[in-house]
Amino acid sequence: LFCLQRDTEPGWAVRAADQLDRVLIDHAHCEMKAAATAVSLAPRFYRRPAVATALSALAREELSHFEEVVAELDRRGLQLGAPPVDNYVKQLRARAAACKPHRVDALTDRLLVGALIEARSCERFKLLAAELERRGDPVAATYQRLMASEAGHYTLLRQLALAAHGDDDPGGSDDSPQRQEVLDRLHQLAAIEAEVVASLAGEASIHG
Ligand SMILES: [Fe+2]
Ligand SMILES: [Fe+2]
Repeated sequence: LFCLQRDTEPGWAVRAADQLDRVLIDHAHCEMKAAATAVSLAPRFYRRPAVATALSALAREELSHFEEVVAELDRRGLQLGAPPVDNYVKQLRARAAACKPHRVDALTDRLLVGALIEARSCERFKLLAAELERRGDPVAATYQRLMASEAGHYTLLRQLALAAHGDDDPGGSDDSPQRQEVLDRLHQLAAIEAEVVASLAGEASIHG
């Protein structure tokens, strides 16, 4: 899916659907973390107001997802609870930072790491939606919808990284050196991401 280089192993969706309560709690926190990341990045792009406002809008959308998932928790009589550590995101960020890009600055790199997290979330939502659908759980529809939204976020963050790195026509077919530098780094990060996914236990959490 997208630039991902490794598929989630097939058993994950079954385990996640078996422990849906736990996954929903983790998921709510993922949405809030996505919003918080967008909020923290937005003002740092003060030289690129279009990037800053796009991140601000992204944060609002992630907050609305948070509220939607919390409403689902309420319906199930569940409490949000303390945010669990997301080992996937933690490892991905650490390994991305340890393997510094040559051409792409640290800020642009954070957009690319974000794009990968969105791509993986999209893949996971798709798998979970299919498994829930098979079980006749109506939450399948929510995951179907959020999957489409995460796909849009992947595309957005990839485009913002291109814009931040000086390619003002990210949809265009030009192969400017800047564009290639960003795409090369995305490819490199995707390889790191695949290693991180392979190293995880596949537990019942969004990125587990
Ligand atoms: Fe979201
Ligand atoms: Fe997202």
